[in-house]
Amino acid sequence: MCGIVGAIADRDVVPVLIEGLKRLEYRGYDSSGIAVLHDAGQPDIRRVRRTGRVSEMATAAAAEGFDSVLGIGHTRWATHGGVTEANAHPHISDGVALVHNGIIENHEEQREKLRALGYAFESQTDTEVIAHLMHHHLKGGDSLLGALQRTVKELTGAYALAVISRAEPEHFVCARMGCPLLVGLGEGENFVASDVSAIVSSTRRVIFLEEGDTADVRRDGVQVYGHDDAPVQRDVHLSDVSLASLELGPYRHYMQKEIHEQPRALGDTIEAAIDAGGFPAELFGKDAEAVLSGIEGIQILACGTSYYAGLTARYWIESIAGLPCSVEIASEYRYRAAHANPKHLIVTISQSGETLDTMEALKYAKSLGHTHTLSICNVPESAIPRASELVCYTRAGAEIGVASTKAFTTQLAALFQLTVVLGKLHGHVDAAQEADYLEQLRFLPGSVQHALNMEPQIAAWAERFARKSSALFLGRGLHYPIALEGALKLKEITYIHAEAYPAGELKHGPLALVDEDMPVVVIAPNDSLLEKVKSNMQEVRARGGELFVFTDQDSNFNESEGVHVIRTPRHAGVLSPVVHTIPVQLLAYHTALARGTDVDKPRNLAKSVTVE
Ligand code: M6R
Repeated sequence: MCGIVGAIADRDVVPVLIEGLKRLEYRGYDSSGIAVLHDAGQPDIRRVRRTGRVSEMATAAAAEGFDSVLGIGHTRWATHGGVTEANAHPHISDGVALVHNGIIENHEEQREKLRALGYAFESQTDTEVIAHLMHHHLKGGDSLLGALQRTVKELTGAYALAVISRAEPEHFVCARMGCPLLVGLGEGENFVASDVSAIVSSTRRVIFLEEGDTADVRRDGVQVYGHDDAPVQRDVHLSDVSLASLELGPYRHYMQKEIHEQPRALGDTIEAAIDAGGFPAELFGKDAEAVLSGIEGIQILACGTSYYAGLTARYWIESIAGLPCSVEIASEYRYRAAHANPKHLIVTISQSGETLDTMEALKYAKSLGHTHTLSICNVPESAIPRASELVCYTRAGAEIGVASTKAFTTQLAALFQLTVVLGKLHGHVDAAQEADYLEQLRFLPGSVQHALNMEPQIAAWAERFARKSSALFLGRGLHYPIALEGALKLKEITYIHAEAYPAGELKHGPLALVDEDMPVVVIAPNDSLLEKVKSNMQEVRARGGELFVFTDQDSNFNESEGVHVIRTPRHAGVLSPVVHTIPVQLLAYHTALARGTDVDKPRNLAKSVTVE
């Protein structure tokens, strides 16, 4: 969490910093700030910080006439210390200013040491110790870069850092360990940012810093140093993120845009399989066939919505590929004495590719002896795919709304392709079945588009949901994870308490919650479990509960008193969970609109969770 941007140029960089921070707001939006070099004869540092959104800080910076050729900026998701201006970044220690993403685990020990040296602390943050450590080393005679390289060796934890000093106004320095940071290369100007979206108006040429790297960024050049402080060459990448893909266009919210982009995102994610006319193992990289044919089971690790994608995939992998599959929340797995089976493939699923819990679970799995790892990820060059043996990039495009939508359905599309590849390699899917699965996949973007067309009906339901304080979501089998996802979406952006259960579990406890004030959403497609789900619905009706049922065009199911029905298109076979995700996304979105919540930036959350 937290977003960093920095720039050095021949022009005023304040607009670059402000635009960059606005694009990074998805990483945290509790407070923001910038620090710039102010040179009126005598170089000094000026800083502005505000709680709340970047736009408020930008107004203050404009009012104070900020203008500079060198500066750094930060948008914060609070961890150490509350949401106050004093805790907002940049932090300053007498002429040196820095911004930080990550958590310094030994901050208390460093704080004591620095207090003994006479430093006073103005904030409750772990970051302020870094500013004072930098100052201490600069006072001892180090250059700005030397002070940074010495400082980071005294830190335990995770950081991405950018630092400016009034004593060295011709450059800034940065460092990375455990949090993403890239350097952007312009013409006579250079940048640093947490991700490329922050600087895409200025450049798309980037260097992804590696773990332990530091960098010296000047107007006319950049030098990167490895963890041993020796100069290193890092590859320059041309990012394919476009400015247009980051704009809201005709939509009111990014979440709305991203929901409606799903037919395109799915089309892009399945394009390689459609072009290949099947499911070659190479969809997962050139070494995939050797790796995937040798494994005997799958262990999926992920968090949040990505975990629900994994839960859905378990049904596919077990029934279609005929392999055992376990799915675990990454933050639980990493602290469990799990029994590793090196013949099992570790599959991590992450939209951002930088979720700390998932990354640490992957490292833990490797430490237990797992050698085969596959990352399903939406952000190229992010940390988790870089740490994995095989990679499959979903092609959802930038997802900016905090609530994950198109990332989820494209993860499902990727996991389905993985299932069929595994099924083929392990002799459970023959040529005819492969052709059939390809046909189902080909229809998927169209079916999702049909489901999107249900929006007006779903919006009408949302008006009623907006007045409720709790909701239950039910599903069975393949659609139980979709009920979980529906409940997560609703609570995340509407703050309505929502829970999901496998419908058969209702009678074992949650039925006690059901009364006329408790709306019960049921995902009830026309599959082999429909009759069972209908019985579970009767249990709800008998207790006065009101049912809101999403079913298929071809299911034998009608409205009745207290039972409202919306039909999505014809049953989409094994891919039905993808199609049934759309209505629960739309229900959450329209309920949030009706309640007037901040759809794209729900309270207390951030898009990218890089802390424990
Ligand atoms: O980037 P990741 O997929 O690893 O993120 C995992 C979760 O933090 C994420 O899915 C979260 O639950 C979303 N906000 C859900 O909408």
